[in-house]
Amino acid sequence: MEIKFADKIKADMAAFVIDQDLRLPKAAESFDKASGGVLSQALSSARFTGKNGQILSLVMPEACDARRVILLGGGAREKRDRLTCEEIGGALVKAEAKSGYKKLAVYTDTAEEAAYIACGLKLAAYRFDTYFTKQKPEDLPSLEQAILICPDTAQAKDMFEGLGAAIDGTYFARDLMNEPPNILYPATFAHRLKALEAYGVEVEVLGEEDMHKLGMGSLLGVGQGSAKESKLVIMRWKGGPKTSKPVALVGKGVCFDTGGISIKPSSGMEDMRGDMGGAAAVSGTLLSLAKRKAKANVVGLVGLVENMPDGNSIRPGDILTSASGQTIEVQNTDAEGRLVLADVLWYAQKYEKPSAIVDLATLTGAVVVALGHYHAGLFSESDELAAALSKAGETTGERVWRLPLAREYDRLLKSKFADMRNIGGRTAGSITAAQFLKRFVDEGMPWVHLDIAGVAWVEGEKKSTDPSWASGYGPRLLDKWIADNYEPSTS
Ligand code: BES
Ligand code: MN
Ligand code: ZN
Repeated sequence: MEIKFADKIKADMAAFVIDQDLRLPKAAESFDKASGGVLSQALSSARFTGKNGQILSLVMPEACDARRVILLGGGAREKRDRLTCEEIGGALVKAEAKSGYKKLAVYTDTAEEAAYIACGLKLAAYRFDTYFTKQKPEDLPSLEQAILICPDTAQAKDMFEGLGAAIDGTYFARDLMNEPPNILYPATFAHRLKALEAYGVEVEVLGEEDMHKLGMGSLLGVGQGSAKESKLVIMRWKGGPKTSKPVALVGKGVCFDTGGISIKPSSGMEDMRGDMGGAAAVSGTLLSLAKRKAKANVVGLVGLVENMPDGNSIRPGDILTSASGQTIEVQNTDAEGRLVLADVLWYAQKYEKPSAIVDLATLTGAVVVALGHYHAGLFSESDELAAALSKAGETTGERVWRLPLAREYDRLLKSKFADMRNIGGRTAGSITAAQFLKRFVDEGMPWVHLDIAGVAWVEGEKKSTDPSWASGYGPRLLDKWIADNYEPSTS
């Protein structure tokens, strides 16, 4: 679906945001008149209160400039923030994308509202149809074009260009996540990242031989039962001053997680196609930054592996030597994400010299139990980083919630045979996983771990702006955090 901005246009459908006072906006008056008062009657007789998210779709007579008029509940004007507007746009696409009409005009009072609603439209219009060969025409969207009608179209367009780049990142992350694991495995994932070069991102791909030389026994251990070669992809976006250190974004990219020899139950295992959600988030963010030519230096590093049971797989009891030199007793081969991240974190610090690190990983089922699907778990010793990411999360709707790190949890990683084991105990599974990662982060390095196992795909009630299986969590959060904290402010 194409999105445009204009000050007036004729379209098949015209949508208006209605305040809770239920007054008809000026731009809607001509439609009301030509229809013999259908709009004002609808407002006074139907159960339409203007509450946010409400939608009332009205058929217009021939004499009108549109075949359909849609009234959108905008809620209280003073509460109409970015997320409220996104939901309005999302609800509109959900209700009318398959209406049979092609062209939609959305009228708003301000450029800001127009840009935010446009974001909602775009987020909700995402589809992943690659593998359907027999779709009925009525299941396909008819909507081809949405035009936002607002006072300052240049301003709206400008805003949307910035925000839209982050949504391109969301789309990219969703695509990577939704792909089935026979199609998207480490080598094909890496190949897709090569496409970022077209936007000015430097992309380097390391294979197993390179990683052997680096001593990355922990990451390689996870991949050794797979027929697919493991990869490490480094993506560098250099939009900031030459001398400033990059921010490093590190992602878990387990393209499929069977659990390995500690195999998972079969029910629901297909969801483990999404166990590369961290890597998808990092990749999407790099695309966002490049698309809007962000004035910051950011390096993304993704560890791509497949966790399979095989005669060559790692076993419970095996001891791996990580690139940092620390040894790890594998007590559960299903706790593989942390083994991958251990070596990628080491590489990030040794070769990219970052000023801060954020890692993202679908790391533990325990974080889903703790926080459900509406906040990622955040772990950090830096109050400042935690606060900045929380703020970006509230604005973008990709929310985070801080959980603790503490010495007592670290002790649960003690092993009889090696420097540590890869699981804690029965308790605090997300925290012990974070403590494990912390052992691979240099003293004093500002670091945040985001456990996104609950938010990378959402079960149950989903927003209209999250229409496919994968949510595409990450790029909007990280793009906003980088814009607010690592780029010169524009205003
Ligand atoms: N990829 C899983 C975590 C996960 C679970 C992500 C559910 C998304 C939804 C991870 O590799 C895993 O298997 N973790 C284990 C750790 C345990 C063995 C210590 C878990 O959470 O059960
Ligand atoms: Mn696992
Ligand atoms: Zn996993």
